[in-house]
Amino acid sequence: MPLPSTPQIITCKAAVAYGAGEPLVIEEVEVSPPQPSEIRIKVVSTSLCRSDLSAWESHNIFPRIFGHEASGIVESVGEGVTEFKEGDHVLTVFIGECKTCRLCKSGKTNICQVLGLERRGLMHSDQKTRFSAKGKPIYHYCAVSSFSEYTVVHSGCAVKVSPNAPLEKVCLLSCGVAAGLGAAWNVANVSEGSTVVIFGLGTVGLSVAQGAKLRGASRIIGVDNNPQKCENAKAFGVTEVVNPNSYDEPIAQVIKRISNGGADFSFECVGDTDMITTALQSCCDGWGTTVTLGVPKVKPEMSAHYGLLLMGRTLKGSLYGGWKPKSDLPSLVEKYVNKEIQIDDYITHDLPFEEINKAFNLMREGECLRCVIHMPR
Ligand SMILES: NC(=O)c1ccc[n+]([C@@H]2O[C@H](COP(=O)([O-])OP(=O)(O)OC[C@H]3O[C@@H](n4cnc5c(N)ncnc54)[C@H](O)[C@@H]3O)[C@@H](O)[C@H]2O)c1
Ligand SMILES: [Zn+2]
Ligand SMILES: [Zn+2]
Repeated sequence: MPLPSTPQIITCKAAVAYGAGEPLVIEEVEVSPPQPSEIRIKVVSTSLCRSDLSAWESHNIFPRIFGHEASGIVESVGEGVTEFKEGDHVLTVFIGECKTCRLCKSGKTNICQVLGLERRGLMHSDQKTRFSAKGKPIYHYCAVSSFSEYTVVHSGCAVKVSPNAPLEKVCLLSCGVAAGLGAAWNVANVSEGSTVVIFGLGTVGLSVAQGAKLRGASRIIGVDNNPQKCENAKAFGVTEVVNPNSYDEPIAQVIKRISNGGADFSFECVGDTDMITTALQSCCDGWGTTVTLGVPKVKPEMSAHYGLLLMGRTLKGSLYGGWKPKSDLPSLVEKYVNKEIQIDDYITHDLPFEEINKAFNLMREGECLRCVIHMPR
């Protein structure tokens, strides 16, 4: 039997960011073979999430390849990988599941101590990069870096999905849509007949809305300062919209007034720590639960009057909606294939890879939900 050929370096096109807020440059990069426990993926579709945009605008790790919401096909596998083989369809995940650490084994959380959110632009295993150009390293983003024709990820940061699932749609389950649905279902556990308020009506907020609607929430109040976002929100289950710019009084006061003392559940899906305070103020005494999902670009600290908590409120946060990627993502994909959840309407733009900067501009200007970037076949 012939031995499988050893993976070689691949030279391909990637969108490289050289500085904060500077347009990405599509150029040739070298992608190293997958190292032990890693896989190399041919990216098929990758959508732009607000977290990519915020990091591109505010981080100082460059040159860097962004992108973390993606689908693709396994091109080669590194030593010791038995879970994947060439040709498998996969979704990447920005928080992995090693299945062996204390947190993974607890069954209580989707946070992994080994393959957690990677913030330094390196691979988890050896703190090095797998990309280079002209002999210089190019940093990763969330150990995924999908704005490249090929990328290398840890095998714990990818999930095999059914070949029947359309990769150009289910890439949204790799981050935004799954994060919102999971926040409503796993983290808040929204109950039938409840009142929900969602701050920020982008893909994440509107996925919370879809999750809340499927749980039978009776009022889903959406808050956004972009009139276009308010207009489109009802299609995702939002029952009434509030634009803070239309009121002189603080928005928490408006929500309390229209919800007879505050919502049962509130969600922060903007990425602004002051909005967490507002969300906490907008839920009711006794049992009000606030779930914060946003990733703030500035001012990471939040503050709130302790009395809000003494009065029985709960504040929770979540990454990826509490889903354990390996354990839970395949069933979420199945729900989409069976039409139990919807994804397609979050895709407002389909763009070829060459137009990736357009996706960044559309999101910066608040003119899109998700732009799906299609890699060359
Ligand atoms: N926790 C997670 O797992 C997770 C996953 C994906 C994204 N995120 C984060 O969630 C947030 C939302 O992501 P998204 O992709 O939906 O982004 P998005 O940009 O599409 O949506 C954000 C929305 O907030 C609105 N907004 C901005 N400022 C506002 C204000 N002052 N008042 C009211 N509305 C305001 C915008 O108009 C926009 O509609 C981001 O911070 C992102 O980084 C977190
Ligand atoms: Zn994301
Ligand atoms: Zn783990």
